[in-house]
Amino acid sequence: MRKLFTSIALLLILIPGFSVSPDEGIWIPLLIEKYNIKLMKEKGFKLSAEDIYSVNRACMKDAVVSFNGGCTAELISGEGLLITNHHCGYSLIQDHSSLEHDYLTDGFWAMSGKEELPNPGVTVTILKWMEDVTDKVLAGTSDDMAPAERERIISLNIENIQRKAVERTGYRASVKPFFMGNQYFLFVNETFRDVRLVGAPPSSIGKFGGDTDNWVWPRHTGDFSIFRVYAGKDNKPADYSPDNVPYKPAYYFPISLKGVKEGDFTMVFGYPGTTSEYVPSYHIDMVKNFVNPRLIEIRTRKIDIIDEAMNSDPLIRIQYSAKKAGISNAWKKWIGEIQGLERMKTISRKQEYEAAITKWISSDEARSKSYADILPSYKRIYDSLKIYTLVNNFTNEVLSGIESLNLSRNLRDLVSQTEKGSDPEAVNKLKDQLIAYSEQFFKDYNRETDRKLFVSMLQSYGETIEQEWLAPEYTRLKSSCNGDFASFSVKLYDKSVFTDQARFKDFIKGFNRSSVKKIKKDELYTLSQDIMAFISENVRPELARLNSEVQLLNKRYMKAQMEYESGRVFYPDANSTLRVAFGTVMGYYSRDAVYFKPVSTLKGIIEKDNPEIYDYDVPDKLKELYANKDFGRYAADGEVPVCFIANNHTTGGNSGSPVINSEGYLIGINFDRAWEGVASDMAFNPDQSRNISLDIRFALFIIDKFAGAGYLLNEMTIVE
Ligand code: ARG
Ligand code: GLU
Repeated sequence: MRKLFTSIALLLILIPGFSVSPDEGIWIPLLIEKYNIKLMKEKGFKLSAEDIYSVNRACMKDAVVSFNGGCTAELISGEGLLITNHHCGYSLIQDHSSLEHDYLTDGFWAMSGKEELPNPGVTVTILKWMEDVTDKVLAGTSDDMAPAERERIISLNIENIQRKAVERTGYRASVKPFFMGNQYFLFVNETFRDVRLVGAPPSSIGKFGGDTDNWVWPRHTGDFSIFRVYAGKDNKPADYSPDNVPYKPAYYFPISLKGVKEGDFTMVFGYPGTTSEYVPSYHIDMVKNFVNPRLIEIRTRKIDIIDEAMNSDPLIRIQYSAKKAGISNAWKKWIGEIQGLERMKTISRKQEYEAAITKWISSDEARSKSYADILPSYKRIYDSLKIYTLVNNFTNEVLSGIESLNLSRNLRDLVSQTEKGSDPEAVNKLKDQLIAYSEQFFKDYNRETDRKLFVSMLQSYGETIEQEWLAPEYTRLKSSCNGDFASFSVKLYDKSVFTDQARFKDFIKGFNRSSVKKIKKDELYTLSQDIMAFISENVRPELARLNSEVQLLNKRYMKAQMEYESGRVFYPDANSTLRVAFGTVMGYYSRDAVYFKPVSTLKGIIEKDNPEIYDYDVPDKLKELYANKDFGRYAADGEVPVCFIANNHTTGGNSGSPVINSEGYLIGINFDRAWEGVASDMAFNPDQSRNISLDIRFALFIIDKFAGAGYLLNEMTIVE
């Protein structure tokens, strides 16, 4: 295996339709020196691989953090100041918001350390070091041993490696597979637990353009928010305490005001989540033609209902804004992805590749023995996998789409403990947990909206999923109300304990054996329990079995591809580990004769201004600054830059990642991709795949000129 990685020939084998563009790739920081630095320098990068990743001295990796599991953020001061996207801090900003303190609408700025807002449960993780542990993970295994035995040895080895790595340190270790399990790396991390909100612009800036502009270029979203990492007096992670002090990082990014122009080098350093670049055509077919079109349909229903409710009432807008952003984000991406895969003819290109690799495999006896079964096996497995995946994912969409149904799922333990007659103390603890949870839940709950969702979700479930895959309780319910979920729901929502906070609280407080009888007559409860039982008995086990078969094939298929294209330097799919993408600031042709330039400005915000449209309602203060050309030092050519695009290969999770120029300075914050190229998780398109970043100068302009929080700039290192 190792041999494959040492081949650094940059000559790409020209197989029909399959060469890799030099800018495609999400690379491993530890291996930059070996595989990437030469090309990076050719593109303009002026620093060394050690400046990006080193274990011997402070470097950029010490300033890039995984923010609360799903996003990236970066340190921008010696006092633990952290910048990420507005959408990454969104649900936290929302948690702190109410009609009295509406930080979503008005923004929030702590004017001193004392005013910074704690966020229980939020974590920030910094990589200490990483290491190739492939040999240690695979020790004692062979390719021809029984898969279960192989898995068992691998897990044991991984446990050992992780334990040894963090002995006598406060760090945490994890070993992760790369190249579908052909290589393994160890990551040793330090996780901070006291992270406070320092500032956020109003949504009319931080979410400007809203879901209308989401995934689209040209873009004008001021997508940033600011936090601070706190540590104990020893600068080590600590639980929240007012005595904690700002964390002193080993490194933080200096900020450049020089900005970008077309052709400039850029690098994105962050935590991309998942990509699937090496999957067979059958996988693309499943996602593009079978599963996602149906998920799009059901989410369209959810969005229509929630949109209408949000537009009708400012309280509902606050309650449902974060939920709706989550639902619509993936929904819109799936739509763009299907279009992109169609335009690039990804399925037929993969099929051609599969024909060619099959020919290569069968031309050699040893190869035939190792690989000939792979593609036929994929075909067979995906035939069933696509049905199990659809039923599982779609049913989840139905369940999660009805909030009170979801709430009722949480009662399962309380019911079984009460039936068993468990220790009253344990039962009381469960009750307290449920009541605490319900307070959060009902803060953001609107009964009428949920009732409409109930009707729509259940209709969609019956219309989309074949009878044999529907939970029996659903079918019973449907016939008992003659399919009239609307009338049925009015009565149900009037009496159910899951649709009213006071009812719920009283019910849980007094929960006893007779409550068990009562709850078993509540259709929200019976339905959720039955759907869950149905799925976990009839769908999940087979789905898991099929997926593990696919994983084994993936490992072998990846190896075959690497042998087949032995001259190519492969990058591993994203797996939520720290990665580097690099490339160039550049525009693109959206369609015939339409070229998108790579930089947007405040002028474009003013052009989009429309107080009638929620997503385009520009704050007066910003209009004033524009009219007076009060731009401070943040303008270029008479305009304030807002966003820019480049061809860095990024994906979900890269939100909030630092965008770095040739000198290693922070020039932007990655937050999105452009519509025409969003299929890049499965097929990167060099002509159109672009990442969208906020120009750091716009963030500074807003902090300084708009919010009057310029004191925050004093602790940053700003290079003019
Ligand atoms: N599309 C970006 C990402 O995938 C931004 C999402 C947040 N914005 C929104 N309008 N929902 O996370
Ligand atoms: N907005 C995405 C995120 O939250 C990044 C955009 C993308 O998927 O590339 O990570």
